[in-house]
Order: sequence, then structure tokens, then C-alpha cells
Amino acid sequence: MKILNVGSLNLDRVYQVDHFIAGKETLAAARMDTFAGGKGLNQSVACARAGAEVWHYGAIGTDGLMLKQMLEDSGVHTGFLKIRQDQPTGHAIIQVVPSGENGILILAGANDTLTRTELQEAAAGFGAGDVLLVQNETNLTEEAMRLAKEKGMLVACNASPINDAILHASLDLVDLFLINEVEGRALAGVPGTAYDQILACLHAHFSKAEIVLTVGADGVLYQKDNQVLQQGIYPVPVVDTTGAGDTFTGCFLACRARGMSAPACLKYASMASAIAVSRPGAAPSIPDWQEVEAFAALQG
Ligand code: RIB
Repeated sequence: MKILNVGSLNLDRVYQVDHFIAGKETLAAARMDTFAGGKGLNQSVACARAGAEVWHYGAIGTDGLMLKQMLEDSGVHTGFLKIRQDQPTGHAIIQVVPSGENGILILAGANDTLTRTELQEAAAGFGAGDVLLVQNETNLTEEAMRLAKEKGMLVACNASPINDAILHASLDLVDLFLINEVEGRALAGVPGTAYDQILACLHAHFSKAEIVLTVGADGVLYQKDNQVLQQGIYPVPVVDTTGAGDTFTGCFLACRARGMSAPACLKYASMASAIAVSRPGAAPSIPDWQEVEAFAALQG
């Protein structure tokens, strides 16, 4: 099972602040770090570090070469990564407060310059039994899902960030949703509902799809046909939650590629994201498989 990730790459400018900035306020940050990020890059890194074979199709500017390096250092295939001469790399401005919670502002830059020709070239070597992974931070998300479906690939969608574009996309193309409760509520059209009801609504809307719904401190809910599962979190001291969901998504798919059962995929992905939130940054915080196994051994 090979994975093709059509996804974003961002330079994350991470500001440590004592509270999220409000309108009309000027706020001094304690420090700023630049990390590799972008939901697409983070998920490719998480897949590869957990042992999956992943190819990343996306675009950066000439100012984003550290992102290419991060992918390569993590074992991601970058033959389809494009470097635009006339576009800046996508970036994110991220506030992190002392609890580890974050607020993220993104500017797409080169992430919005994917082309159909490049997409077809990238997908040429993939077919039945392989996985397409998409998020919602690039253009061509729906085209990628349609192409993958024509090829008999499994379509995995992390519908994040949630917005009108993804809400109006043909989500019946999706075989596997990996979403959080905010995205789940929006996709199910049930604001303010309890988590199990969100899952039930999503299952009613997308009855053929496998649904993985992360619900913060309450862990993760899962449904495929009549199989409903729940996995709790692994409590750790929280430093920075940025990229935790991406780590979960990538590790879940890598576990799937290892042939693990759904309960085992949920368990190992939850452990990987626990490790990620205990460290700063998005991509740099993502553990490799040895670290996940060592964490698992400590759980007894
Ligand atoms: O999911 C975390 C990511 O969201 C960050 O790395 C940031 O770049 C945004 O894409």
C-alpha cells in the first residue's frame, strides 16, 4: 500500500504568547520560532516516520527549501514536489498559549498553484490498493479525489480547515474521513451536538465511509458499518498541540499500511499524537515508529 499525499507545505512562524490576541490589542510574544509545517507536510512526515511509503505532491517557493529537506530527512519521496520561482511558500502564523493550545492563521502562497497536469503525473504510478490522502489547504482537492477514485485508490480525507469549499465538494468520493469534532459537526450539519451523535449523523450521511472522529481530550471515535470503537487519549504534559491531528492521521494510515486492525490503528495513532503534543512545533514534534513502540511498551 503506497500513499500519495496531495497536500500543503507551510513555514510555521510560532509565537509564544500568554493569551490569544484580541481585536485592537497589541501583544508582545515571548519568543518566535520557525518550524516546518502545513497539514500536508505534517501528515506526510507522520506517515513516513511511522514506516509508510509516501509520496508528496505539493508546491513551495524558493524560500521554502527547508520544507523539502524536512520531507526528505523523514523518508518522504519528493520527486513530485514543485518549486515555484514566482510564488512564496505558504506560511502560518501560530499563537501558542501556556496550555499548549494554538490559534492558526494561514496564507496559501504556492499551495494554491497545483495543476491538473502535475497531479496526473504524480498519480500515474498509483492504483488499486494504494491510498490518496488530501487535506483542505491546497487547490485541486476534489480533482485529486476524483482521479484517485477512477484509479481504484482508497480516498482518505482530512477535511481541515473546514470551509465552504470542502463542505460543497463531492465528499461521497471519500472512503475514510479523519476529522476533528469541529469538522465533524460542520460536515454532519449538527452544531452543538454530543460526540456520539455527530458520529451517528456522519455515518448516516456517509454510510459507506469509514469515519475517524478525534474529540480532543475525550480521545477518538470510530465507525465503519456497524463497528463502533472508542479510544481514549494518553495523558502527557502538553507543550504545543500544533500538528497533533496531523500526527494522528499520518500514523493511522501508516498502521493501516502495516496491516493493523482498526482498534490497533486508533491506539498507535493516539500514542503518536500524545508524543507530538509533548514537544514544540508541528513537523519536528512527530515521532518515529521506534518512539511510538517505546511509548507503547511503557503503557504496559
Ligand atoms: O495542523 C497544523 C498545521 O496547520 C500547521 O503546521 C500549519 O501550517 C497549518 O497548516
